[in-house]
Parts: sequence; C-alpha cells; structure tokens
Amino acid sequence: MKDLVRPVVAGNWKMYKTISEARNLAAEVVKQAPAPSLATIILIPPFTAIQEVKKTVSKSGILVGGQDLFWEEEGAFTGEISAIQLREAGCDFVLVGHSERRQFFGETDEMVRKKVQAARQHELRPIVCIGENLEDRKNGQTLNKIKSQLENGLFNLPEEEFRMVILAYEPIWAIGTGQNATPEQAEEVHNYIRQLIASRYGKNVSACAIILYGGSVKPANAFSLIKEKDVDGFLVGGASLKAESFLEIVREASRSKEG
Ligand code: PGA
Repeated sequence: MKDLVRPVVAGNWKMYKTISEARNLAAEVVKQAPAPSLATIILIPPFTAIQEVKKTVSKSGILVGGQDLFWEEEGAFTGEISAIQLREAGCDFVLVGHSERRQFFGETDEMVRKKVQAARQHELRPIVCIGENLEDRKNGQTLNKIKSQLENGLFNLPEEEFRMVILAYEPIWAIGTGQNATPEQAEEVHNYIRQLIASRYGKNVSACAIILYGGSVKPANAFSLIKEKDVDGFLVGGASLKAESFLEIVREASRSKEG
C-alpha cells in the first residue's frame, strides 16, 4: 500500500450499526466524501458489517478496518477473529489495543504486541491505541504511561514493520466524555511520541509516522486540534456514527493542511 494521504480520519463504529444501517452510513459517506487526494478515510464497522461496507465503498478510495483481531491464524478460539479472516472480508487496517479492549477485556501490552505482529504477517496495517487514564494524568504519569505502552507493545518491531503502524493517542478520560484534550495537551503527547520513535527508529521514520488523536473529536474542535504540528488525523468514535458530523471532521482536518 502506498503512503497514506494526510490527514487520516478513521471512524470507529464500535458496537453500533446493523448490516443495513452500516451500508446506509457507508453510502452516505461515499456520496459526500472529499477526493482521496485530500484525506484518507477509514471506516471501522463491527465485524458483521465489514464485507457489506467494503462493497459499498469499493472504487471510492475509502478504506476499511476491523476493530480487533486474535493473534492465531486459526483454531479452537471461540468468538475470536483472525487477520486472514479480516483480510478476506476486505480490511486493510485493524484497531489494536483500543482502551475499551484494555479496560473491559483485559488486553495487555503483551497481547497488543502479539496482535500487531499477527496483523503485519497478513499485511494488515495496525492502528494501535495508547493513552493514559485520568489517574495517570493527575499523578503526572501521562508520558511514562505512553512510553511503557510503546516500548512494551510496539518497539520490538523491525523498522520496516513499524513503518506500517499507525498510532492513535487516545486519553481515556476524553473518550466518549465530550471532554477532548486541548490542542496543547494533545500536541505535548504527540510530540513526545514522535521523539520516542526518533530515538528508537531514527528521524526519518519518526517524520513519516502517522499519529492520530482520538477522544471526543467533533466538528467544532477538529480544526484547532489538527493545526498542531504532530497531529496527523483523528480516530473518531461517537461523531463517526452520523455521516454529516464525520465528514465535517474530515473537511475540517483537510482544510487545515491547506496551509
Ligand atoms: P469518541 O471515541 O470519539 O466517542 O470519544 C473515540 C474512540 O474511542 O476511538
């Protein structure tokens, strides 16, 4: 896959949308989306709707991702889904380590590491979520948390594989709360992530790395967030469930990169 056009805006539909609802939402997005040369759009529906969404967006340049995967290729793992199955259904991307997975389903950095490796073995680009909770932030532990998530979950990857990873900084206290990180708070962490990447993989890799912000992104705050130097796009939850608000965020994001 070629280098992605920035901004990159991904819509994480979580456990919302039946197949027919997903098809309608994807069709609305296709109808009004800006040209692929202006922004990369990734839709991340629930597993049941991936194939239908892929069909609906075909030829539009819009890309599709899964919300999770298991690291084994096949086997007696009831309820799990493999990288191969996601690829066949039409995914080019997969979310890994979303905070809801970590919080409600016990995912650890070690599991994230295995999932990222499995994704790469089958040419899926992982969108790896990292971020601190409110307690970490209050205790001044935000950057330490980010560092340990990166070191334990990702920095074992060889350079050519790491280059295919997209990062999403999602402060847990900002997810679904309506309270986004301020542009300054987001930039502080994004810049720190870029520095850590530079010291592990070198300046060139860190300059190319795509670092998304997620957590209560809305049309009203997208422009101020994307203006920050190290914010390359967004991972959007709630506001991605309606075509209008999602596309407004995409437009705000691409507007800012016009200079
Ligand atoms: P939110 O979710 O936009 O609803 O805060 C973001 C996410 O969970 O990825």
